[in-house]
Amino acid sequence: MNSDLLKGLNEHLKLEFRAAHEYLAMTIWLSAHDLPGFATWMRQQSSDELTHAQRIIDHLLGRDQAPVLPAIPAPPKTWKTLEALCAHVLRNEQEVTASINDLYATAEKAKDRPATVMLQWFVTEQMEEEATARAVLGRIRLVGNTGVGLLMVDQELAGGKVPGMPAEPAPAQG
Ligand SMILES: [Fe+2]
Ligand SMILES: [Fe+2]
Repeated sequence: MNSDLLKGLNEHLKLEFRAAHEYLAMTIWLSAHDLPGFATWMRQQSSDELTHAQRIIDHLLGRDQAPVLPAIPAPPKTWKTLEALCAHVLRNEQEVTASINDLYATAEKAKDRPATVMLQWFVTEQMEEEATARAVLGRIRLVGNTGVGLLMVDQELAGGKVPGMPAEPAPAQG
């Protein structure tokens, strides 16, 4: 494997692990702030990020390359507001997207087909992750700091209704 690509994939692991760690810290903060729907959403996100890191590790192992696990800084313990927390999620996702796009370009330049295919999954995933984070942040801004509004969005998330990408249209009848 091209050495820039190997270095880049190993460096990217840090972003996935950092997101997993931060989203778990957010889960704790959200639970303490009586927002179980948000907490459930973030806990799921945290475990998703771990599977993202695992995908890259498996890719490297499958190609006889050595994954190097990063040190992960301690996550914040607290956020000023729910809006600040959601903005933090969106920022994380945008950073991950930028890193994936760079890796994709590096893989293409190196004509590394397997890495390009592996990264393609991440390109689509990041589009969805960003759309969801943006949509949740948008809803928080919409309801402001009103108890009833926050409760409503929290219940949506608790029910697994994560806003973001528009739903697929129902298949035509007949
Ligand atoms: Fe991720
Ligand atoms: Fe993510």
